[in-house]
Amino acid sequence: MKNIAWKCPNCASPLVPMLEQKPYVLRCEHGHSFDVAKQGYVNLLLPQKRGAALPGDSAEMVRARTAFLDGGYYRAFSDGVNALVCDTVSAQNISRPVILDAGCGEGYYTARLHEALSVGGCTPVCAGFDLSRDAVSHGAKRAKAAGQADTLSFAVASLFEMPVCDSTADMIINLFAPVADAEFARVLKPGGYLLMAVPAEEHLWGMKQVLYETPYKNEVRRDTLEHFTLTEVRRVTDTITVTDPDHIRALFAMTPYYWKTAPADRDRLYAQDKLETEIAFDLLLYKKEAIL
Ligand SMILES: C[S@@+](CC[C@H](N)C(=O)[O-])C[C@H]1O[C@@H](n2cnc3c(N)ncnc32)[C@H](O)[C@@H]1O
Ligand SMILES: [Zn+2]
Repeated sequence: MKNIAWKCPNCASPLVPMLEQKPYVLRCEHGHSFDVAKQGYVNLLLPQKRGAALPGDSAEMVRARTAFLDGGYYRAFSDGVNALVCDTVSAQNISRPVILDAGCGEGYYTARLHEALSVGGCTPVCAGFDLSRDAVSHGAKRAKAAGQADTLSFAVASLFEMPVCDSTADMIINLFAPVADAEFARVLKPGGYLLMAVPAEEHLWGMKQVLYETPYKNEVRRDTLEHFTLTEVRRVTDTITVTDPDHIRALFAMTPYYWKTAPADRDRLYAQDKLETEIAFDLLLYKKEAIL
């Protein structure tokens, strides 16, 4: 919690950690204060905003995704994210990069990125934001257990109103969560980078062959962002074998097919005790445009 330039969601003044207080809180000069939960995260989503915002992923969705990701099936993808971030940070000689994970879920990618940057020789300061308290709590607990908590923070917050000051971050990662173009530009330093990922043509081809009689390859998205220029695209591919039926279900639940597949087709997938499928993503690196 200590190393991020937090912003009060009430009055936009800086929030300062009061480390001597138990339980410890973040407080602004106007006396607004936010408890740091025992798991180590802070809830910076104001009650009046909670109703308006979508609740984020449920505890059950979080559990399923955690089990799948911790199974290591997307490790190659996570490694690809880490390599692109490490390359970008080292090309700019940043020794203490501040990196935000907007829509971090349970922090699987955030924690692995923090670790990769540390192993790579820099001193990262990372924070993950998500609307789901269950997800954020999980991320914070894991960071605490791994001894990362001093420089890896988690907060319940909307990525459309991130609780950090302007020009705070060197990079934002935004993996499969909503995109907030203008808000990302606000919190990035001049020349900062945004990394997003989109499924490539072959992504989950093996799963789609089980689900559909005539599967189609994915159409690959390239979002044009008003405040950013696309500077690099890297493809990451792997073939995974999922042998646990619960993990097959969890993977399915992470896809859009979960919502649009007929029950009979879905049950054919659920009956498999093993699924071999390609995974393929394009990592898109965007640079914040200079303000003229
Ligand atoms: C598909 S999950 C991806 C999570 C994580 N990045 C990953 O790849 O494992 C999308 C996440 O976005 C979060 N989310 C949705 N709307 C959000 C918002 N406005 N602000 C912050 N998080 C949001 C959800 O709660 C969910 O955890
Ligand atoms: Zn305040």
